[in-house]
Amino acid sequence: MSDTIQLTVNGGSRSINCDPSSPLLYVLREQCGLTGTHFGCGLNQCGACFVLVDGQPLASCDTPMWSVAGKSVVTVEGLGSPGKPHPLQTALIEEQALQCGYCISGIQISAAALLEKNPDPTDKDVREALDGNLCRCGAHNRIVRAVRRAAEAMREGAKA
Ligand code: FES
Ligand code: FES
Repeated sequence: MSDTIQLTVNGGSRSINCDPSSPLLYVLREQCGLTGTHFGCGLNQCGACFVLVDGQPLASCDTPMWSVAGKSVVTVEGLGSPGKPHPLQTALIEEQALQCGYCISGIQISAAALLEKNPDPTDKDVREALDGNLCRCGAHNRIVRAVRRAAEAMREGAKA
């Protein structure tokens, strides 16, 4: 059974015709063409599919469409673009924190939510915020450094 669900995706209003029980991840990738959000486990255990829903990181593989009706969804594409990258994206490149890159969109989502609440996180704060994001390449230390580097750049930017 299909229905029309209204929501905001990366700041734009969308009407999506879909089965309300479809996972948000499938709709984002297949109907919205937003393939930066990845399928990992499909079980809310790896973080590869995280997106922001009303500012909170959520596993889109485990989030049915009916539950996001009327809400605001932000994917990694909504954080920044090649021409105007988010400070996190710049810092991840500067710290050479990406190995295969599969985990990195979900990591950016969790880190962006953290920096929104805490502009000066400690290593421990970052590790806790990224607890739900697995990285099979073991790039964790570089990722933590990148998140703190982005936080510093954002603090400096706020002063300028
Ligand atoms: S694919 Fe959603 S948490 Fe792993
Ligand atoms: S960089 Fe490969 S899974 Fe994290």
